[in-house]
Parts: sequence; structure tokens; C-alpha cells
Amino acid sequence: MKGIILAGGSGSRLYPLTQVASKQLQPVYDKPMVYYPLTVLIASGIRDFCLISTPQDLPRFQHLLGNGSQWGISVEYRAQTKPEGIAQAFLIAAPFIGPDPVTLILGDNIFFGGDALPRAFAEFKSGATIFAYHVNDPERYGVVEFDAEGHAVSLEEKPAHPRSNYAVPGVYIYDNEVVGIARSLQPSTRGELEITDVNKEYLRRGALRVQRLSRGTAWLDAGTSSSLHEASAYVQTIEKRQGMKLGCPEEAALRRGFLSLDDFEKLVTGLPQCEYRDYLSDVAAEVKRVGLKSA
Ligand code: G1P
Repeated sequence: MKGIILAGGSGSRLYPLTQVASKQLQPVYDKPMVYYPLTVLIASGIRDFCLISTPQDLPRFQHLLGNGSQWGISVEYRAQTKPEGIAQAFLIAAPFIGPDPVTLILGDNIFFGGDALPRAFAEFKSGATIFAYHVNDPERYGVVEFDAEGHAVSLEEKPAHPRSNYAVPGVYIYDNEVVGIARSLQPSTRGELEITDVNKEYLRRGALRVQRLSRGTAWLDAGTSSSLHEASAYVQTIEKRQGMKLGCPEEAALRRGFLSLDDFEKLVTGLPQCEYRDYLSDVAAEVKRVGLKSA
């Protein structure tokens, strides 16, 4: 399965922060925002990535993530020249996707807790799998409505009068049909190729699975100044309490077996002296003591 990280957009809601760096490079507590969605996909077993951003911001992402080989993954880069919708990512990344299934994650979505995501990736066979998460402001999102049996019956993008409190988070899993579906889409009234229209087409075909994320899972989006601050506070609280970091791609790559312990230790040695390095050293020591599956 291929992985697309979409880190585009003008970031106007975070102005003036976005004059300095794009939204997905802003700090969420102690790491750049894009580390969190990247780590979620690494932990789910994805190894081949395409990061899509604006032509201006791509060089910074390249500087941060390189070609991924330091983490035992591969990362390639493609530009979205205009913000013409999430589903445009499948057109931009079509050569990267090739004949494979693909997952797309939004660079400002942060997930933590539960095993629903890795499980959904492991169980995925065909069609589309998307998720649903109970929120108190569904009108800001794609909204899914369920019937009494728990089957999805409708999907709407940012409805003024939501039919449920279930928002669709920004991580989606598709079979290869998604490229053809994206090609057949018409832009919405806001001029975008909507991801919700892709999902509606899978729903129409009877090929959409909507999995509810339980209340034990945290889904945060960090697209406004206050949600960015809340996300940082949340990460700090959990990290301080547990002594384990969220959104740490090096650790996820080690635990997933993409990096050997040897390579991991070499990587750590090359980092500057800082808390992040101290944490990774502790991870190496713990893995030596109790093995990979400890946390
Ligand atoms: C996008 C999608 C929406 C989804 C949301 C998740 O919204 O269009 O369906 O629920 O991401 O973050 P946007 O970021 O364009 O407001």
C-alpha cells in the first residue's frame, strides 16, 4: 500500500505563523506537525510515501524528511500548484500510486490511541475504508450519517445542518479504483475536487466501509491557532505522563522493523544533544532490554 501525505493549502487560518513556515511544519509541542500523520502511517506498516505540498513549501519538507532512507522508508515529493481539493492528490500522485492501493492522510490531522487504524490497514482488501469520529462541531467537516443497523447512508461536506455528529477524519484507505474516480470528479461549488465526492462514489457502489473510532481514540486537527495550541497541550500532557512520545517516526520505524536496532542507534548518534535524542536513546535501551513489542 502506498501512502500520500497532503500538506498543501494556503494556511490562511494560521496567519501570520504561516508567513514563517507552512501549517504542517508548525510545532505541535516538540515536533513539526507532519511528524504525527507520518508516524501514524509508519506504525500502520506503510513504507512508500509521496508528500504533496505547494511549490514554495516543498523544499522545506525535503530538508526535513529527505528521501526517508534514514528511517527505512521512501519519500518522494510532488507539487500541488493550486489548492484545488484533497482528491486532486490522486491525480498528482497517479504515477506514484501505480497499480497499488493507497492511503491518504492530511498533514494537519493528529491521531492518538487505540488500534483501529493499524487494524483497518491490516484488514483492508478492496473498496474504501474511511472513519467516523463523534465531534461537537460536525458542520466543520465531512459528515456521515448511519442507519439503525450502523450502515453509512449519507455523506455530506460541511453541511449547514449536519445529520449526525460523526465527522470523517482526514485519513482514507482506497483500492486502485480511486484514481479513476478522482479523474471523473467535477469541482464543487468552492472549486475543489472533494474527497467527500470520492467517498460518495464508493458508497454508491456499495464499496464503502465506515469504521467508527471509539472514544478511546483522540483525533485532533491543528488548523487554527487555538486548535494548534490545544494539540500541543494534549501532546505535552500525554508525553509527560507516559514518558513516551507521540509522533516519533524514528521510534515507529524501529518498532515496525523498518530500521534495525543497529541503524537506529547510528541514527541517534548523529543527532544533536537534545531531549529528542535522549528519548530515542532511552527507546534503544528499552528495546535491548525487553524487545520490540514493549510499547
Ligand atoms: C477536509 C475534508 C473533510 C474532512 C476534514 C478532516 O476538510 O474536506 O471532509 O472531514 O478535512 O480534517 P478541510 O480541511 O478542507 O476543511
